[in-house]
Amino acid sequence: MLSENMQHQVSVDLMKKEDLQEILVIEQASFPTPWTEGMFLDELKTENAQCLVVKIEMNGKAVIAAYIIFWFVADEVHLHNLAVKFEFRRQGLAYSLMTLMKEIAEQVEIKRQTLEVRESNRGAINLYRKCGFVVKGKRSQYYTDTCEDALVMWAEGQQEEQNG
Ligand SMILES: CC(C)(COP(=O)(O)OP(=O)(O)OC[C@H]1O[C@@H](n2cnc3c(N)ncnc32)[C@H](O)[C@@H]1OP(=O)(O)O)[C@@H](O)C(=O)NCCC(=O)NCCS
Repeated sequence: MLSENMQHQVSVDLMKKEDLQEILVIEQASFPTPWTEGMFLDELKTENAQCLVVKIEMNGKAVIAAYIIFWFVADEVHLHNLAVKFEFRRQGLAYSLMTLMKEIAEQVEIKRQTLEVRESNRGAINLYRKCGFVVKGKRSQYYTDTCEDALVMWAEGQQEEQNG
């Protein structure tokens, strides 16, 4: 469920090529090395990629507030991208999208989910822990822009971490 503070109509739709202009603005404001338009177009063409956007109706216009991209790989879900537009953060949108990813995976009987996250990205790490992910490994200097390590996190279908 989305936060009750969310005053406007909220919907989740499949990402379309026409959404990319707005998505690229969010992407560039969210990551040190943002994905390019070509990278998003590749995801849209990939059969096992699920690309979803959250739209919020404001003054009669649907604004893109967040997006998520994940892949089904054998019996696993791999999170590839997740971002929320700055003004819509801390209202539960990312948590809702992560919950939706888990529910969609469960519909095809996939329970194992994995992702990589920058070691310094405390907000995202907190989010993933809240979604039941735990750190299972580290990829050294995975992010070539800052030489930062990636934490490899996994969730196996459990709910929120007990001592989280
Ligand atoms: C990380 C991000 C997706 C979180 O989106 P969001 O919609 O603001 O997150 P939510 O409101 O659903 O937060 C859920 C939980 O995540 C954690 N969290 C989210 N943002 C946080 C922050 N800035 N600091 C600390 N914890 C945070 C909290 O535990 C939060 O629960 P709480 O609000 O009850 O404390 C968003 O900040 C973002 O787009 N960041 C830039 C892109 C990015 O880092 N993406 C992830 C790449 S791995």
